[in-house]
Amino acid sequence: RKRVAVFVSGGGSNMLALANACAAPDFPAEIVAVISDKPSAGGIAKAKARGIRTFVFERKQFAGKAEHEAAILVALDEIKPDILCLAGYMRLFSGEFISRYEGRILNIHPALLPLFPGLHTHQRALDAGVKIAGCTVHFVTEGMDEGPIVAQAAVPVPADDTAETLAARVLTVEHKLYPLALKLLAEGRVRMEGDKAVFSNLPAKDEAKL
Ligand code: GAR
Repeated sequence: RKRVAVFVSGGGSNMLALANACAAPDFPAEIVAVISDKPSAGGIAKAKARGIRTFVFERKQFAGKAEHEAAILVALDEIKPDILCLAGYMRLFSGEFISRYEGRILNIHPALLPLFPGLHTHQRALDAGVKIAGCTVHFVTEGMDEGPIVAQAAVPVPADDTAETLAARVLTVEHKLYPLALKLLAEGRVRMEGDKAVFSNLPAKDEAKL
C-alpha cells in the first residue's frame, strides 16, 4: 500500500474521507501522517482521534518560507510518504519543494478548474451566474490550483444558492472524488507527464512489467 501524508489547514473533512477509504482492506493506500500549519486545525484533532500520526509546523515559528518548508521536508524524509494529498491546505509550496515530490502531490479545489482558482471560489462562481459547479483533484505544480486535472465532479447550482449552501453541496462530492483520485494514483493508473495527466487502465503491477 502506498504511504500517504495528508496536509490540512482546516476542518479536515476531506482528510477523514480519505482515511475512511483507506480503512477498506483492498484500498491501495494508507494515511501515515497528517500535517498542518495550524495547531487548532480540526483536521489535526480528527487525525489524532483516528490514531493517525500528526505534525504541526506553524509558519510563524519559522524565520521564512524556506525554513518552514525545510522543516516539513525533514519530517517527510522520516515519514517516507509515496504520495502527498493537500486537503484544504491553504499554503503554496515552492517549486523546489514540489520538485522533491513531482507527480506525487494531489490537491483538491472546490471549483471546476480552470475556473475560479484561489480564494472565495463559491462566491465568485455565484457572482458569475454558473448553473453547474463542482470540484477538481489535480496534480500540484508551482502555480496556485494549476496542474494537470485527475478528476472532477459536478453539482447543480439552484437559483437560491448561497456561498455556504454551495460549499456544503460541493463538499459532499469532494468526499467521494478525492478517494477515487487517490486510488487512481496509488494504483499507477494516472501519472503526470509534463503538463498532462496520462491515464492507463493497466493495474500498476502489470504496468511495471512493460
Ligand atoms: C475543501 O472544500 C477544499 O476543497 C478547500 O477547502 C475545503 C477544506 O475542507 N480547498 C481549497 O479551497 C484549496 N484552494 P476540509 O478541511 O473539511 O477538507
